[in-house]
Amino acid sequence: MKLSNQTAIVTGASRGIGKAIALTLAREGCNIAGVARSAASADSVAGEIRALGVKFSGYGVDIASSSAVNECVEQVQKEFGGIDLLVNNAGITRDTLLLRMSDADWATVLQTNLTGAFNWTRAVTRPMMKARKGKIINVGSVIGLHGNAGQANYAAAKAGLVGFSKSVAKELAARNITCNVICPGFIQTDMTATLAEELKQKLLEQIPLKRLGAADDVAALTLFLSGSGADYITGQVFTVDGGLFI
Ligand SMILES: NC(=O)c1ccc[n+]([C@@H]2O[C@H](COP(=O)([O-])OP(=O)(O)OC[C@H]3O[C@@H](n4cnc5c(N)ncnc54)[C@H](OP(=O)(O)O)[C@@H]3O)[C@@H](O)[C@H]2O)c1
Repeated sequence: MKLSNQTAIVTGASRGIGKAIALTLAREGCNIAGVARSAASADSVAGEIRALGVKFSGYGVDIASSSAVNECVEQVQKEFGGIDLLVNNAGITRDTLLLRMSDADWATVLQTNLTGAFNWTRAVTRPMMKARKGKIINVGSVIGLHGNAGQANYAAAKAGLVGFSKSVAKELAARNITCNVICPGFIQTDMTATLAEELKQKLLEQIPLKRLGAADDVAALTLFLSGSGADYITGQVFTVDGGLFI
């Protein structure tokens, strides 16, 4: 097992990509602190993860609230004894054209997708610095690298995550803490379930590998970046998009 006795905080672990990441890490012996908006939602994966023989606790935390995040990190340290990995995966969309984008559409997406990652990363920095090791993986998006009409808020947050992660990588490297970004393309989850069938067909025509991604495709790279094989990789941005943006 590649991650025996390690502990990962995975945000957005209740569904989609985060759930796949939590299960994939757990299969390698990693204990999981799973975060979602409510404790009930976070706990919905408890049975599946504990069945793999690892420790699991679910936490209901609004990642946009720094005080709630700080409290949760303290609790995780008490319950698990340390934090080896942080996967900032939770994210939302509030898609609309710029002219119609409300202050709330903009603020909520920035506060969740960018400030949320900042809140967790800052909170785990002290314990990771003390341990002189740690791995932080941020889930961005190809939209943050290339932009998309109707997603100015989302693209800005995900692009911000790249600059944030590169800065964190430089700042924490001396303490043996790495920070990388995974940018998925179009992955089959609740987030993309609402895409119109016509748009999905158009997308499929543009994706060289001729399918939407699976959450497990993103989880596989997360596992690699979490393991010792990635000890010398930091500040990098990896795309998992079936070749969409070759
Ligand atoms: N799906 C794609 O095609 C795609 C492509 C590129 C990037 N991404 C990124 O990948 C990540 C996961 O996406 P997904 O498709 O798996 O999303 P999803 O199925 O919609 O799941 C979102 C997860 O985030 C949690 N969450 C949302 N807001 C939160 C908040 N304020 N506080 C705590 N937890 C919160 C949700 O918790 P609840 O269950 O409690 O609501 C849920 O677990 C996101 O960052 C997304 O931007 C996705």
